[in-house]
Amino acid sequence: MCGIVGYIGSQDAYPILIKGLKRLEYRGYDSAGVALLNGDISVYKKKGKVSELEDYVRGKDTSCTIGIGHTRWATHGEPSDLNAHPHQSEKGLFTIIHNGIIENYAVLKQGLIEHGMSFKSETDTEVLANLIEYIYTTQQVSVENAVGLALKKVIGAYGLVVLSREDPNLMIAARRSSPLVIGLGSNEYFIASDATPIVEYTDRVIYLNNDDMALIRRNELVLKNLTSDGTSVNIQTLDLGISEIEKQGYDHFMLKEIFEQPRSIKDTFRGRIQPETNEIRLGGLHEVKDKLVGARRIVIIACGTSWHAGLVGEYLLEDMARIPVEVEYASEFRYRNPMIGPDDVVLAISQSGETADTLAAIQLAKESGALVLGICNVAGSSISRETHAGVYTHAGAEIGVASTKAFTAQVTVLTMMAMMIGKEKGLLDEERFAHLIRELNEIPGKIEKILEQNEEFVRIAKIYKDATNALYLGRGVSFPVALEGALKLKEISYIHAEGYPAAEMKHGPIALIDQNMPVVFIATRDSSYEKIVSNIQEVKARNGVVIAIVTEGDETIRGMADHVIEIPETDDSLIALPTVIPLQLIAYHIAVMRGCNVDQPRNLAKSVTVE
Ligand code: G6P
Repeated sequence: MCGIVGYIGSQDAYPILIKGLKRLEYRGYDSAGVALLNGDISVYKKKGKVSELEDYVRGKDTSCTIGIGHTRWATHGEPSDLNAHPHQSEKGLFTIIHNGIIENYAVLKQGLIEHGMSFKSETDTEVLANLIEYIYTTQQVSVENAVGLALKKVIGAYGLVVLSREDPNLMIAARRSSPLVIGLGSNEYFIASDATPIVEYTDRVIYLNNDDMALIRRNELVLKNLTSDGTSVNIQTLDLGISEIEKQGYDHFMLKEIFEQPRSIKDTFRGRIQPETNEIRLGGLHEVKDKLVGARRIVIIACGTSWHAGLVGEYLLEDMARIPVEVEYASEFRYRNPMIGPDDVVLAISQSGETADTLAAIQLAKESGALVLGICNVAGSSISRETHAGVYTHAGAEIGVASTKAFTAQVTVLTMMAMMIGKEKGLLDEERFAHLIRELNEIPGKIEKILEQNEEFVRIAKIYKDATNALYLGRGVSFPVALEGALKLKEISYIHAEGYPAAEMKHGPIALIDQNMPVVFIATRDSSYEKIVSNIQEVKARNGVVIAIVTEGDETIRGMADHVIEIPETDDSLIALPTVIPLQLIAYHIAVMRGCNVDQPRNLAKSVTVE
């Protein structure tokens, strides 16, 4: 979604802002802009990419040591130069960049119009700029108080930064629901919506709490809270390396992240699985382990790819831990008056830790007395702070909008959780447990072997790049993998794709089968193998085209399918981890061949911070 960057110090601000905006490009956006404070405030903004903004600004005077920059993902008003941020108040006293939605903007706007104010854009952000200016001019308060009083009138979510001509050495940042992080330099501060624009300058950061307001001058940072007397200030050290946010020779972040999976899975289980003592230790769950093991029910809440990981988790937890699991879209859960009580454990899964619907669902679950746990990739994110306890995936920064390594890391954590509970409840005996630990330990090596087949995936992609539809089928734990494969293809290549449980094919999708629609089967050797072989035959009998992911050495399916992708033999419970890899790569290559912007697919955002 929108990206925010700001700088105040003694360095040239403009290059820091532009570089920061480029670092934020992965979040998805449609326009970009900067405001540069040098005596007066100059605002430059453009529809399109940051490079278009750069072209537009080239040749203009950009000298300044205080500035703010923004990438916008349209919510109120179409993408245009006018609607791009920063926005200025009517008299130009205040300049603001904003992430989030001001829900009562129409009422506020009407009130300001009645007081004679006029508006240039259709955005909710300009309403806020004018509201601050109105309060400042009519109530004769300080810049800080004008911002604080305006924010008290706002209903909705915001992460924002304000500059004012009236106090040109001050930068004000505030957040409610939309993340902001401040980087601490020496006599300089950086501000951003996530740590990626900051990491190359400092690793000391403060994540703002909800309703925090930061008053930032070159040599002073004051933190206040708009709803309580004080706020907790926690200076953290960033666990993010610059190499993680660069492509390192890969054509795209998505490709880099797909190839990182042997490492990211290993990082996620390292130190947590203990083959020597036949144990799993998830430190973040230590305090709540008894409650988790005794849970009456686990309700998983998530969105997008994280929801697919949750579906894999449902199979694993029910199978190994024998706890009933429900997997809910956070956006549905939060508005459904869900039946949750103190005996339930609610498990939120999120790569970014900032998804607005998941955050709201967590709040609701907490209010109903449930133990709320998180599986998050971003340390310090809102979800990691709002949950009672949790487990981090150690996938490293994921920049490609289409989630890949976060998914396999989430599945790895869910596998460890299910194993831990299963063992604790005496449902997995020592031998089975030790076998699973060994198998999990071998997954990274098996994924390496699959990645070595990349050229074969390129070959398959070439054949099907012009398809208009695709169907992905799997049974059991491979059904969510089918959903994930279909999502990968549609989100980055814009080919319509659907995932289905293989047996459901006969209840609808079978009508679509023809020679032009590839049908991708996840058909590894497991308990439903014979059934899925029958499903493949049903597709072939109707002249369908089959791409099958099979267990190494499977000659039966090789004799039927048009293409066969072999996966090293793996325990049934862990099969989601290797089988998703070819699906990610085929989607990637098809998207590249179709000329699509793989890392920033149209209309999508990496982290959906508005509902
Ligand atoms: C967006 C992203 C997806 C992601 C989903 C949930 O749609 O494009 O890749 O799966 O949000 O995000 P989260 O950060 O909560 O996992």
